[in-house]
Formats: sequence, structure tokens, C-alpha cells
Amino acid sequence: MSDINKLTKTALFDLCEKHGITGYKYKNKTEIAALLQSALQQHNGESAPLTPTFVEVCAGGGGLSAGLIKSGFTPLLLNDNNKDCCKTLKTNHPEANVVCGSMADIDFAPYIGKIDLLTGGVPCQSFSQAGLRKGLDDPRGDLMMKFIDIVNLTKPKVFMVENVKGLLTHNGGDTIKTIIQTMEQSGDYVVQYKCLDASKYGVPQKRERVFIVGVLKTLDKVYQYPTEQPLTKVLRDVLTDVPPSNGAKYSADKIELFKLIPPGGCWVNLPENLQRQYLGNSFHSGGGKRGILHRLSMDKPALTLLCTPSQKQTERCHPVEERPLTIREYARIQSFDDNYVFVGSMNSQYKQIGNAVPVELARLMGESIKNLLW
Ligand SMILES: C[S@@+](CC[C@H](N)C(=O)[O-])C[C@H]1O[C@@H](n2cnc3c(N)ncnc32)[C@H](O)[C@@H]1O
Repeated sequence: MSDINKLTKTALFDLCEKHGITGYKYKNKTEIAALLQSALQQHNGESAPLTPTFVEVCAGGGGLSAGLIKSGFTPLLLNDNNKDCCKTLKTNHPEANVVCGSMADIDFAPYIGKIDLLTGGVPCQSFSQAGLRKGLDDPRGDLMMKFIDIVNLTKPKVFMVENVKGLLTHNGGDTIKTIIQTMEQSGDYVVQYKCLDASKYGVPQKRERVFIVGVLKTLDKVYQYPTEQPLTKVLRDVLTDVPPSNGAKYSADKIELFKLIPPGGCWVNLPENLQRQYLGNSFHSGGGKRGILHRLSMDKPALTLLCTPSQKQTERCHPVEERPLTIREYARIQSFDDNYVFVGSMNSQYKQIGNAVPVELARLMGESIKNLLW
């Protein structure tokens, strides 16, 4: 196969077809040749990959993948069905095989037995008990079922699903129970889950996410989640010398309100007449509502960053200025490197960052899984 680079693009397409290799259609000639070469080498056992490999579905703007790559994993395939996310993934990882489209439409047969880690931030909207009950053989099952199908087809050494904390209490705890039972149904995996707060893992943000990890029984290894870090990072650690970037703006009225709120404060710091005026009917509702008109503090981790930087119920004002966080500040708090590029409109960029697994937490998860594999 040493002459692979001399073949025409059509000949390369034909070879990909013949060997069941997907994701080549929108690549240039050099990229297709590289894809083909590495797939064929692995298939022939000519050269074992030097680093552990991963496949990620629902990869978003790439927080999880950036962290896994930092920990030493090589992506075999990155997927999302959002065009901006795919452009972001491709821009930051030009060598990676980025497949834009539904994870449900990808043919994973070429990856059977070749994946060290299969992972995905499978969206939570898809937790329908009905979908899960349809069973493993139903291709119309929801995305979580589809993910489990891909596990059972490709048999990765390890799989990992990341999701919101609400998964643990959804349907009174039945949903997570059903998911774990379905994941264990093949008898091939030991599955565990844990909710990790990013602020305990070197990220200046309180962000709780559930990580389900399944390990192939034949590995005969017990997976250990990363250990909590002794020091908590705060915003002061990351909000200095942030590169300039776009950012959302507040209305003149909101700016005046935030002038009255100290760092770490929220609507309760306003005089009562302004509290009533701003909250309207929800003034009398219960709960702390601390996300409303919340101003971050340089001396604490941020509250969980969301997909939009400014909403009435979930405000996260800059600690010392009357404005929402900029794109690059968002990225810093999610522990993306400053040179990580986000593609798309400003709103799309906020969404990609707000949806991401913090890169540092992903790196630690990657290390913990690598320890198991190597
Ligand atoms: C929570 S985000 C993933 C974030 C990612 N783990 C990260 O660290 O950046 C979920 C992603 O799933 C994508 N998605 C939703 N349905 C999908 C599908 N059927 N196939 C592929 N991606 C999908 C969304 O576009 C979104 O980017």
C-alpha cells in the first residue's frame, strides 16, 4: 500500500467503498489516503496504533475530545449533527475524521474491535423510557439506545457517556437504572456511574455531570474515576489577560441593576422595590432563585455556564464589569486553550462552549481511562 498516495481520488473512493471505510466523501486526496492507510494498517495488524484511540458521537464543539486528545488519545472519528460544531471540530483537528450528520446514520462496522474508547455526550432529550423499552434490536430506538447498539456492535475496550446530573433523578431514578441494565445486558461490560463536579477537578466552575463508564469484562480491570484535586480554582485564576473577543451585551436597564449587585451577589442585593419590579410574580415563589441577576465573584468558581450567557433566570454577570462574559472568557472558564477556535455565529459559539465537558475534566477522565488500558 506504499503507492496509495499516487492513486486518483476516484480510485481512493473505490478502495474506501471496498473496505467499508466511511467518512471520506468530503475530504481532500491526502486526507483520504491517510484515512485509508491507517484503516488498512490496523486491519492488517501491520502497525498497532501508538496511542489509544477513541470514537466520539455527539461531540459538540469538542470539549471532551480536546481533553481526551490532551491525555494522549487519538480520534478515529468525531461526529455531530450540527454543522457549526463539525466545522469547529475540523478547524481544530484538521487531521481527524469528522462526520457531520446523525450518529444514527453512521456505519460503524469498519470499527469493530478497533476502538479503545467509544464516547459521547448523548443528549438528554432522548431519554424516553419507551425508546429504551423498544429493545436493543430496534433501530428506531432513541439515541441512548443507538449508543448502546454501537457499543454492542464495535465492542470498544471502554465506553463513556457524559450527561447532566438530572439523569440520576429522571423518572424517580428509573431512567438511569434502565440505561445501566441495558448497557449490561450483553454480559460483556461492567458499568458504573458517578456525578463529578468540575470545580473539584481543576476547573473554575461548579458544573455537575454524570459519567457512565463501561469496561469490557475481558480486560479484567477495575476502573477508578479521577481523584479530586486538592486546590479549587477560582475566576481570578483564569480571567486575566483574556484575548479580546465578541460578547453579548446587556440592556441599559440591566446595566443599572447590576451596578447595585456586588460580586457573588444576585437579585436579593437590590432594594425591595426593584426586586419586586424585576421579579414580578416570581417574587413570591419559593426557592433561592440565586441565578437571577447573579454576578460572579473573582474569588469563587463560576456557577455552571449555560448555552446562552444572558437570560432572565440564569444570569452570570462579569465579576467586576456590568456585562455578560465574552466568548473567550466562557472558553477560559471551560478550560479551552486560547487558540481553540469556535466557528459560527456568536450565539452558536456560546452554545458550543456552554454544552462542553470542561477540557481539564475531560483530560483527567482520559488519563484515568488510559491508566486502565496501558
Ligand atoms: C452536550 S453536547 C456535547 C458536548 C461535547 N461532549 C463537548 O464536550 O463539547 C450534545 C451534542 O449532541 C449533538 N447531537 C444531537 N443529536 C445528535 C445526533 N442524532 N447525532 C449526532 N449529534 C447529535 C448536538 O448537536 C450537540 O452538539
